Amino acid sequence: MKSAPNLILIGPMGSGKSSIGRRLAQRLGLPFVDVDREIEHATGASIPLIFELEGEEGFRERERDVLARVCAGHGQVIATGGGAVLLPANRELMPTRGFVVHLSVTLDNQLRRLVQDRNRPLLQHPDRRERLRQLGEQRAPLYAAVADLEYDTGRSGVRQAVERLETLLQQHWQLSAPQPPAPEIPAPAPMDTAP
Ligand code: S3P
Repeated sequence: MKSAPNLILIGPMGSGKSSIGRRLAQRLGLPFVDVDREIEHATGASIPLIFELEGEEGFRERERDVLARVCAGHGQVIATGGGAVLLPANRELMPTRGFVVHLSVTLDNQLRRLVQDRNRPLLQHPDRRERLRQLGEQRAPLYAAVADLEYDTGRSGVRQAVERLETLLQQHWQLSAPQPPAPEIPAPAPMDTAP
């Protein structure tokens, strides 16, 4: 049983981190925080616009800063972006600030769930299957290295996944007692998106 201050969901795009995370948070009576939405909120720009203006590298820096700020909190269910495991700093941080669950998904299910998507810059590619396969191959060892638990979302719907995951969590994770507040990490400055 691991005692940790947050529950952190990692895994590829379309694995259900946000949908499962939101419902799980409700059931656990904890606030839900989606790191992608926090990045958009902090910058005042959408993720596609951040990629357009600053490239993937700029996005990863913003993601690292926001993840650090969110992880400093306590008692939250945190959904991360699929690439949050890419930076070594994030891979070091997450297991120290949470019980980390890797939501895994088959390529077919991923493609099915993302078929309508226009908001994920890395997916705007003529061959989505190949793109997702490459990303999966590159990132699978990183998810495995960071995770305390892997949960295969399979073909189950969100409700079933949440119920099963909740049962597993009761056996593996306990929320640690709150610590005295750490000095707050300031929010990153908004982006200048004026033309
Ligand atoms: C990304 C996944 C996205 C978002 C960004 C980059 C990735 O989050 O952070 O488009 O590198 O896999 P989701 O996993 O929530 O789709």
